[in-house]
Amino acid sequence: MSVLEKMSQNLGTAEAIALEEKYGAHNYHPLPVVLSRGEGVYVWDVEGKKYYDFLSAYSAVNQGHCHPKIVGAMVQQAQTLTLTSRAFYNDKLGVYEQFVTHYFGFDKVLPMNTGAEAVETTLKLCRKWAYEQKGINENEAQIIVCDGNFHGRTTTIISFSNDENARKNFGPYTAGFISIPYDDIEALEKAVNSSKNIAGFLVEPIQGEAGVYTPSEDFIKRAKAICQANNVLFIADEVQTGIARTGSLLAVCGNCTCEAKCEKQETYTQPDILILGKALSGGAYPVSAVLANDSIMNVIKPGQHGSTFGGNPVAAAVAMAALEVVAEENLAQNARKLGKIFRDELGKFIETSNIATLVRGKGLLNAVVINDTEESDTAWNICVRLAENGLLAKPTHGNIIRFAPPLVMTEEQLRDCVAIIINTLKEFEK
Ligand SMILES: Cc1ncc(COP(=O)(O)O)c(C=O)c1O
Repeated sequence: MSVLEKMSQNLGTAEAIALEEKYGAHNYHPLPVVLSRGEGVYVWDVEGKKYYDFLSAYSAVNQGHCHPKIVGAMVQQAQTLTLTSRAFYNDKLGVYEQFVTHYFGFDKVLPMNTGAEAVETTLKLCRKWAYEQKGINENEAQIIVCDGNFHGRTTTIISFSNDENARKNFGPYTAGFISIPYDDIEALEKAVNSSKNIAGFLVEPIQGEAGVYTPSEDFIKRAKAICQANNVLFIADEVQTGIARTGSLLAVCGNCTCEAKCEKQETYTQPDILILGKALSGGAYPVSAVLANDSIMNVIKPGQHGSTFGGNPVAAAVAMAALEVVAEENLAQNARKLGKIFRDELGKFIETSNIATLVRGKGLLNAVVINDTEESDTAWNICVRLAENGLLAKPTHGNIIRFAPPLVMTEEQLRDCVAIIINTLKEFEK
């Protein structure tokens, strides 16, 4: 039997898990659910059980599983031309570059594949800009980051993480980073003024992986102002928060809900560099992007950065379809409306509960804090029980459960999910 024939055969849950256990590196700890199909807000396991997806592949599947417009664009392009590399031009990349830069309001885009690659690209861009435009002496540039950050898994990125699990025994680490407390404007001001070698400030507008920490209302605006006053690049990593997840096209849009570029809006804070990934493809394909204006992006010259797959025609077609879906289906407004219902309903339950202590978040990026220690397995056990009750979510940092469904959810579905979550939490009341 060929491997493709074998793949089309139905595997049972135990068999599929056993294969991953034996042949795959153990770099993840998945819930014991084996998924084989997805559509909209639902996924099905190999036994045919249906679940609400409340993780959306860590906020990549904002447009819902297997969105027909996105899959259609992908299939059509895959049957025509998949990869040329950047050794040649292709007839989709320029069209996409024009579309995505207009959509987000920047002069230029540098296309990559994964979020971590886009962050790496940004760090290189920021350093090169610092040496060639700002006049910092070579090898002396410093980039400010925040405690509790999550920007990916490469060696440089984990060098400025303070998550021991992500760092330990992966040294020696890359130098050139200063970490400050998140949402601490005085600490930022102090760090920016601590040296003439500060090149940029890299920040998640909401810290997703850390447990969905939303900073104070004016933090992003004030942070940008400090950066601007000191010729320091303000860099927003919106890999997780971007593309309508938090109830705006970008989290840096503040309270604005329009689905296209909105730099005219009062609430908007324009980053000097914007990093996108995940939902830029609706979860159909790895597509990431770094956006900046010419004065920054033009420091990169041929041969200085790239990727075999970055900017391939399938990625270009998929990303254009994925962004059109966000606007056509009003996903930011929907995320905003449903997110409020989610927090209101969970908030009411928490007032009377001793198993959950807090619900926080923005749009449909939310977290519930479980009343137990970070080391306890209570949140994990709740997630296992949620799965049994037909809803998939995952703890982040031990006692925090993140809830991030696809943004195509209806209010009726959301209310159904809220009931599942509350009933499940009730089973764990102490
Ligand atoms: C804010 C942020 N940046 C970067 C990344 C890394 O993206 P990827 O996993 O595609 O490398 C993530 C992933 O969760 C993220 O949340």
